[in-house]
Amino acid sequence: MRAVVWKGPGKVSVDKVDDPRIESATDVLVRISTAGICGSDLHMYEGRTAAKPGVVMGHENMGVIEEVGSAVQQLQKGDRVVLPFNVSCGTCFNCARGYSNACLVTNDEAAGAAYGYVGMGPYRGGQAELLRVPWGEANCIKLPGTPGDELEDDFLLLSDIFPTGYHAAELANVKPGTTVAIFGAGPVGLLAAYSAMIRGAAEVYVVDAVPERLEKAQRIGAIPIDFTKGPPAEQIRNIRMQNPLVRGAMRRGEEKMAGVMCGIDAVGYQAKDFEDPSKESPMSLTEQLVDIINPTGHLGFIGVFLPQDPGAKGRAAQNGEFQLPWGQLWQKGIQLGMGQTPVRAYSLLLRDLIIAGRARPSFIVSRRIPLSEAPDAYQKFDRREPGYTKVLIKPGLAAGAGAAAS
Ligand SMILES: NC(=O)c1ccc[n+]([C@@H]2O[C@H](COP(=O)([O-])OP(=O)(O)OC[C@H]3O[C@@H](n4cnc5c(N)ncnc54)[C@H](O)[C@@H]3O)[C@@H](O)[C@H]2O)c1
Ligand SMILES: [Zn+2]
Ligand SMILES: [Zn+2]
Repeated sequence: MRAVVWKGPGKVSVDKVDDPRIESATDVLVRISTAGICGSDLHMYEGRTAAKPGVVMGHENMGVIEEVGSAVQQLQKGDRVVLPFNVSCGTCFNCARGYSNACLVTNDEAAGAAYGYVGMGPYRGGQAELLRVPWGEANCIKLPGTPGDELEDDFLLLSDIFPTGYHAAELANVKPGTTVAIFGAGPVGLLAAYSAMIRGAAEVYVVDAVPERLEKAQRIGAIPIDFTKGPPAEQIRNIRMQNPLVRGAMRRGEEKMAGVMCGIDAVGYQAKDFEDPSKESPMSLTEQLVDIINPTGHLGFIGVFLPQDPGAKGRAAQNGEFQLPWGQLWQKGIQLGMGQTPVRAYSLLLRDLIIAGRARPSFIVSRRIPLSEAPDAYQKFDRREPGYTKVLIKPGLAAGAGAAAS
């Protein structure tokens, strides 16, 4: 079969590799109808992880079951399924408690596994024609409809970033009436904003500098903040305090709550410096979050941080060590949440929101391409070029058939 293979920093190619096959009685083989390219893939693509060349990429996968192992009872050939990016066993101490992101069985090196990702177990990715899904019953979410129908792209987003955006909102304790600041308007940040709306947030601010992404945020009812126009915390506080309704509802002393109750980092360790975006400075983003979060608030760090980043400048950053304004966090009494999303905990319910017509996360999809266009799309997505906010690979499309999403 053909698959997208990582060759080294800045290079992927579409190679012929061996077809996957059923290796264990609980396996399922899926013929891929759609696979997403994710911001998380870019960490590997750029050589900013400990990955070795040869990885078959892709952890955002869906398709149709082609074959099931002899122990699989609840699924059958022909079922349409989406696969949460976490590979989990479904029954260990953590899986049983809903933490499929920290499965104790599927990865010998650490808690938690994924398809096509360094350090996340031996599993190949699904930017390919076929995918072996281990522990098939635990890892397949069944879908209605037929491949390529009008909900295909919405369903694909159940593999990672819709649940991830939702999880970010959960970590940040977004509830009806809350105020939310989200840093990063990539797919994750945009779906965190969308999830915040679903959860009833009153005001949602989204910070980035890419115009196309900020426009998408505005289109779903968020307030875009361009970080090239000044410190985001100050911009948000000014907007809030210049609103006579917000101001008029405050009693004396409540200006101390001029910031927001919920903050989300949807960028992670490769965040750009606000003053000089040619540099990285993840802690300047954290400082802005700590500044804008109100006393008693919650912060969710959904953007990735890694324990090893050989490509970082300086020994501390190479070991994933950063300096935090711990004193301010303590004084404000802030709760922090972080880590990989337990996708399965959300994907069934979010699927049902899509089925009921109450969520359409595919507004973020900007381009659909055949496998052969993946190398070009990686390069353009990596440069955050217009039209490449979220690219979906459709292995069934003929070469040359790539097109912008309408
Ligand atoms: N926790 C999880 O389970 C999980 C799952 C999926 C993705 N992620 C991570 O979420 C992060 C975002 O993913 P994505 O697909 O949206 O990626 P992306 O790279 O498309 O988006 C990141 C956005 O952040 C913006 N940005 C950069 N520096 C900034 C700064 N200082 N302030 C504000 N915005 C800034 C960029 O312009 C870009 O639009 C990545 O780190 C990804 O690995 C985590
Ligand atoms: Zn992803
Ligand atoms: Zn498990």
